[in-house]
Amino acid sequence: MVLTTRLPAGATQGIAHIAAPLPLLWVICAVSLEALGADPVAELTAFSGEAAVVFLLLSLAARPLRRVSQWDWPLRIRRMLGLWAFAWASIHILIYVLLDLGGYWPQLADDLSKRPYIMLGALVWLLLLPLAATSTKSAMRKLGRRWKQLHRLVYLAAPLAIAHEIWQEKTGWGDAIWHAPVLAVLLVARLSVQPFWREAQGPLQKSRNR
Ligand code: HEM
Repeated sequence: MVLTTRLPAGATQGIAHIAAPLPLLWVICAVSLEALGADPVAELTAFSGEAAVVFLLLSLAARPLRRVSQWDWPLRIRRMLGLWAFAWASIHILIYVLLDLGGYWPQLADDLSKRPYIMLGALVWLLLLPLAATSTKSAMRKLGRRWKQLHRLVYLAAPLAIAHEIWQEKTGWGDAIWHAPVLAVLLVARLSVQPFWREAQGPLQKSRNR
């Protein structure tokens, strides 16, 4: 299926750039107005984790959307979406360290044994770190082919992030009930758009797969 409607690329990109910071604005307002309910730390932890996963999923959706629509803007905003995912993951960790742990490090060992999903979360963040660090055009140029290989780590980070999300739930799957199927669809779409085994492709194949 190919969507033929053309959206003005500049306008769509502009809207995306304006919309992406809105969740952060919402958090800042909610904190300032003390409108986060009885347990603001839990609320902030949940919101930041959710935001990280949603931005991660949106960044993964860019290529399949480009493929079915022929629009350019999904690929143009992909880097921004990935960086927001990393930013929210970092905010999520800061909330844990500063507000949950309260900087009381001896508590960490106890917490890790009671909540082992934290280690999985840390691994996800470590996987996202090099992707964020090499998201610039100059890093892309310097790394050449290796950039693509490195950035495939996102296909490991995303399922692990959702595993962390499911693991921390006391009952049921929480919002992972829709995150997991969306991720599954995106991974299948990715494999059908550009199978990993086609990596030894030539320039012609590469441009066809954009
Ligand atoms: C050192 C790294 C991390 C730590 C310490 C951490 C810690 C936590 C904690 C304490 C919770 C809440 C558990 C509860 O309510 O009892 C949580 C939930 C969650 N985390 Fe993390 N996390 C980390 C990394 C990540 C990353 C990298 C992501 C996503 C990319 C993520 C996504 C989530 C999600 C989606 C939830 C569930 C939120 C909800 O309640 O709906 N976490 N994490």
